[in-house]
Amino acid sequence: MAALPAALLLAIGAASARWAATPESVRPRVVREQLLWVSGEGRGGVHTFRVPLLIVTPGGALLACAEGRKLSPDDVGAKLIACRRSSDGGATWGPTRVAADDGVSGDGLSLGALGVSGGDVLLLFARCAHPPRPCGPPSTQLLRSRDDGRSWGAPQNLSGVLGTEVFAPGPGYGIQKQRSPARGRLVFCGHGTLERDGVRLLLSDDGGRSWRWGGALPAIPFGAPRHPRDFTPDECQPYELPDGSVAVSIRNQNFYRCRCRMVARSWDGGDSLPPDAVTFDPVLVDPAVAAGVLVTEGLIFFSNPAHETQRVNLTLRWSFTNGSTWWGRGLLVWAGPSGYSSLAAPPPSPQGAAPLLYLIYEKGRSQPTETVALATISIAAP
Ligand SMILES: *[C@@H]1O[C@H](CO)[C@@H](O)[C@H](O)[C@H]1NC(C)=O
Ligand SMILES: *[C@@H]1O[C@H](CO)[C@@H](O)[C@H](O)[C@H]1NC(C)=O
Ligand SMILES: *[C@@H]1O[C@H](CO)[C@@H](O)[C@H](O)[C@H]1NC(C)=O
Repeated sequence: MAALPAALLLAIGAASARWAATPESVRPRVVREQLLWVSGEGRGGVHTFRVPLLIVTPGGALLACAEGRKLSPDDVGAKLIACRRSSDGGATWGPTRVAADDGVSGDGLSLGALGVSGGDVLLLFARCAHPPRPCGPPSTQLLRSRDDGRSWGAPQNLSGVLGTEVFAPGPGYGIQKQRSPARGRLVFCGHGTLERDGVRLLLSDDGGRSWRWGGALPAIPFGAPRHPRDFTPDECQPYELPDGSVAVSIRNQNFYRCRCRMVARSWDGGDSLPPDAVTFDPVLVDPAVAAGVLVTEGLIFFSNPAHETQRVNLTLRWSFTNGSTWWGRGLLVWAGPSGYSSLAAPPPSPQGAAPLLYLIYEKGRSQPTETVALATISIAAP
């Protein structure tokens, strides 16, 4: 060994020592920030962009989608689904393309969750989800892209199978199970209307051709006007833990027990969401919002505006312990107004390159709905 040149030794070291997450090696920092959409410019007839989603496609591109609320910032109203794509890791972005448009409907589509199945990209969204439904019965719709997120086929109405109880997917992404039980299964999470709320899992064992209901966690009381501190599980993001269980980070709409995240768990691939496994994470303070969660490099990342009452202080946290503890105080990404967020990461590099994380979020100076921003985060210490 002593005879080998130092450069060769270094090369051998670089090839064999894959980057590993340790408290010393993990020091996330924002290395780039971009605005993907700006509200209020009226471009393309859009008043406000909200509810950003992000996924890495099967071809390795980044795909971002958001609601374009045409006439007002309100949840109810005519909307389109705007998507942009980057094939160079977020350095440059293609123009906005419209994945779906509800015309001048009095209510319309609501995002939504992205997913990946084989070589296809999936996009689930709700239609006519808000009472009193000027646009007809609610439905859950599925878009499929066979060209890596560049274009979409016609929406498929899943309500023939799922019924017309409101199921608003995400916001965020659905997972494909990587481990047993139910390896390969698609697991999406969604919620109901404020009155008939609660979360439900939507499952597919054939790559999204057929769907069925998995576990549910209804609000208590169900179908009644909500009161402060009622048990009201709302917007949700599933993720798979290293033991093959599915965890779901849930918006705790009425602040049952705490102003913090609710976490549900399933050990049967999402078939059930047992109520006795529901926990509350007091470290993850939350003003009732859609938050981001991602499992990558053996870490769990979590993003939200970390505040009990206001949508400010967008914070990234990480856990070395499967989400049972969170490291330090995390990384403050934006101290100003900030709202919904979602996380994505490319698959770990076999060459051991420094891992990246992408955080898309609602960001503004006086309102969180002013822009949709994308932060590229280097996970590794410099
Ligand atoms: C979707 O299907 C449901 C149930 O068949 C139907 O009531 C609803 O009108 C359909 N919605 C759309 C937008 O096609
Ligand atoms: C935002 O976070 C910083 C750092 O943790 C803290 O000092 C500040 O008070 C927070 N802002 C609000 C409005 O709570
Ligand atoms: C995380 O879960 C895996 C799989 O169950 C386990 O092997 C590991 O020890 C857990 N890590 C911690 C820190 O609890």
